[in-house]
Amino acid sequence: MSSPILTRLAWTGPVKAGANLEARWSAAHPMDSGFRVDDSGRQIPKNIIHTVRAYLNDRLIMEADLGTAMTSPVYLAFPVLVPPEGGIVKVIWKDDLGQMGETQQRLVGNIEKMRQAATHFPKWSVKQQKLINLEDQILTCSERTQRPLKGLENTDVLSLSALLHQTSAGLNFQIVPKDETLQRWQLELNEGAKLFTTRIGRMNLACTHCHDLNIGKTMRADVISPGHPTGFPIFKLSWQSMGSVDRRLRACYSGVQAEVPAPGSPELRQLELFLKSRAQGMPIEGPSLRR
Ligand code: HEC
Repeated sequence: MSSPILTRLAWTGPVKAGANLEARWSAAHPMDSGFRVDDSGRQIPKNIIHTVRAYLNDRLIMEADLGTAMTSPVYLAFPVLVPPEGGIVKVIWKDDLGQMGETQQRLVGNIEKMRQAATHFPKWSVKQQKLINLEDQILTCSERTQRPLKGLENTDVLSLSALLHQTSAGLNFQIVPKDETLQRWQLELNEGAKLFTTRIGRMNLACTHCHDLNIGKTMRADVISPGHPTGFPIFKLSWQSMGSVDRRLRACYSGVQAEVPAPGSPELRQLELFLKSRAQGMPIEGPSLRR
């Protein structure tokens, strides 16, 4: 048995519908030409990858017959035209010893179509009968895939959230209710406004005391901002990880030594709704760095 051959498939440039990408495939195959001898003077039998085929959504787009001139590692570049629906690029190789291997990569389909996605949350979900934010939606959608995700601060959830926020960068929040859920939505928003101005914790402070009345002042080496939720998710150095609005708000509860709500609590969504209405007209910045 020979050791498995490591392969790699990557593209240059952003994956967008209609884009012409260069796909780059490489394989750490020994590519023995048959002319080399080993330490004991014996000839190493010829074993090269002789055929490489690339498929886009199971349609052959590239076929290469390789000769002994190709050295190790094998490297091939070929163009890929990204279809509107995205798809899967598959590269299959075969060598002289009859070994073969397959590398697959998904062309993430058309993220531009989701440009608006991050602007609409939180929103009232009729199905779930609660306010949901973007991370909640990502979790719900993931249950319809073969890779359900668990936990609001799951790194994959945050990566997807970061991607969607990046895609929405420059757009304003569109925090507007649907007609049929207007009343309920208004109630949630009012609750959020109330929470923002209610004193909590051992420090007996409300959000407004810091994020309206003390903007620009320093608190434990942090400069207090207006608390606009435009730069989420954040990579926070003190957490050494990404975090969602949910996590940041919980940190503020903890900062004033109040009882910290559980992740995903209705009050955190109500506050997020209020913060985003309050930030109406401010562009989404996309994921940001915090200390
Ligand atoms: C004692 C002061 C204080 C109180 C009260 C407070 N925060 Fe904060 N908050 C901070 C500090 C300090 C930071 C970190 C610096 C910054 O971004 O403002 C912060 C950060 C934030 C941020 C992130 C801003 C960003 O861009 O990273 C949001 C959003 C926020 N707070 C919302 C709230 C909400 C909602 C409440 C009420 C539940 C609240 N805060 C209560 C001090 C406070």
